[in-house]
Amino acid sequence: MSTAISPTAYNYKVVRQFAIMTVVWGILGMGLGVFIASQLVWPELNFGLPWTTFGRLRPLHTNLVIFAFGGCALFATSYYVVQRTCQTRLISDALAAFTFWGWQAVIVGAIVTLPLGYTTTKEYAELEWPIAILLAIVWVTYAVVFFGTIVKRKTKHIYVGNWFYGAFILVTAMLHIVNHASLPVSFFKSYSAYAGATDAMIQWWYGHNAVGFFLTTGFLGMMYYFVPKQAERPIYSYRLSIVHFWALITLYIWAGPHHLHYTALPDWAQSLGMAMSIILLAPSWGGMINGMMTLSGAWHKLRTDPILRFLVVSLAFYGMSTFEGPMMAIKTVNSLSHYTDWTIGHVHAGALGWVAMISIGALYHMIPKLFGRAQMHSVSLINTHFWLATIGTVLYIASMWVNGITQGLMWRAINDDGTLTYSFVEGLQASHPGYIVRALGGAIFASGMLFMAYNVWRTVRASDPVEAEAATKIAVVGAH
Ligand code: HEM
Ligand code: HEM
Repeated sequence: MSTAISPTAYNYKVVRQFAIMTVVWGILGMGLGVFIASQLVWPELNFGLPWTTFGRLRPLHTNLVIFAFGGCALFATSYYVVQRTCQTRLISDALAAFTFWGWQAVIVGAIVTLPLGYTTTKEYAELEWPIAILLAIVWVTYAVVFFGTIVKRKTKHIYVGNWFYGAFILVTAMLHIVNHASLPVSFFKSYSAYAGATDAMIQWWYGHNAVGFFLTTGFLGMMYYFVPKQAERPIYSYRLSIVHFWALITLYIWAGPHHLHYTALPDWAQSLGMAMSIILLAPSWGGMINGMMTLSGAWHKLRTDPILRFLVVSLAFYGMSTFEGPMMAIKTVNSLSHYTDWTIGHVHAGALGWVAMISIGALYHMIPKLFGRAQMHSVSLINTHFWLATIGTVLYIASMWVNGITQGLMWRAINDDGTLTYSFVEGLQASHPGYIVRALGGAIFASGMLFMAYNVWRTVRASDPVEAEAATKIAVVGAH
């Protein structure tokens, strides 16, 4: 089959911009993670200033890693994947550029307002209404660019990765707009449109699906493109990918109440959330198996290809966190895990092991192609990064398991006369070694990002503008 080169080209400019900013925000967001982890070891690092306290920097960490790092990775890869699999240029360069600059403006808004203490107080939805409105406009524009490109595609069918990206874009818009409904009382203060248990339910419907659609479905879109590409094998089962898609999106949306066990939420809603969370194990593992089995016949590549290692290990962590999540959703287990570091460990098994590692793997695959290079500047540096990321993640989650279970057991221990066996401070003292190990693991993970930045910089610097331009040309026939 011959491959003709079309005179038109892909819009790689916006992909390059988002890809570079993924690395930049990754370093800042994870660096801040290391800083707040250190504050839990050495409280003096709060510096006695309101702007630098753990309480204000923690939401900045979550916003930077989820929306800045994760968001830029999703924008970059979705724009890359949708163009290549539809064999067409993005529908509008101007709108795509608006999404880039608008998204960076939202992030800068977060960096300024959160340390100043402006917050809606809803987790992962802290940004006050002017920034939330900008976010909604950018997001709707993103939907127009993405779906518009799908509409003008040159290929017959819509590749499964785009289904996942599409669901992630649509559902995120819905969640953000509904959860942010509020009454502004001043330029930087608003009150939720909902009250009491309803507010909590809507917040965790949002919160859980921020995990399900932002931190999972979008990254599964990434998996369906980059794993087969890097392994140079077709996806294991196209049929399974369709079942996976529909099962995942229909189930995820019901699981939010597992964040509200033993609260004022009606008991039936808690039990429904628990049941749906347990069922969610099936599509989650279906997806993981589909990704893993894509390597059938290509396992040997893992010996020499650190990019593939990033992708495969991310799937292993995905499998692990989506096994742990349903277990934690069981009410009796949750009565031990809730409020403890176990939740934090679960979060970072997903966040570092799955979200960050698959993004890093995808970027290492994509960046040389975006800049017209055969490969990254240094493969051995990718390998170093891989080991730092893996060791960092394991230290982080193992220490939080130990801490979480210790805390849960100490808090519920009761003497014969009904008094508490341990004071809260004793639980905190017992957690101290775990906090040191977590800070160390986080620092190891974050240092890997510095290797990545250097490697990316050398790759980009070696790029020749003519080669980079040639790379954007659309190959009309042949592989994507
Ligand atoms: C070097 C890497 C990182 C370090 C050291 C780190 C550290 C931390 C710390 C110390 C907390 C607060 C825990 C607490 O309140 O007790 C936290 C919370 C959180 N981090 Fe990270 N983090 C890192 C990377 C990431 C990444 C890459 C993501 C997402 C993609 C992420 C997502 C979150 C979330 C969602 C929370 C809130 C968890 C909850 O409320 O249950 N983190 N992180
Ligand atoms: C089948 C899949 C999953 C289920 C059923 C599940 C279930 C749970 C449960 C029960 C909790 C604890 C709620 C609490 O006690 O407050 C939790 C917390 C959390 N999970 Fe998962 N999880 C799943 C997968 C994931 C993945 C893949 C990620 C990340 C990429 C993730 C990120 C989080 C976050 C960020 C929180 C903390 C929310 C908060 O309190 O701030 N989960 N999850």
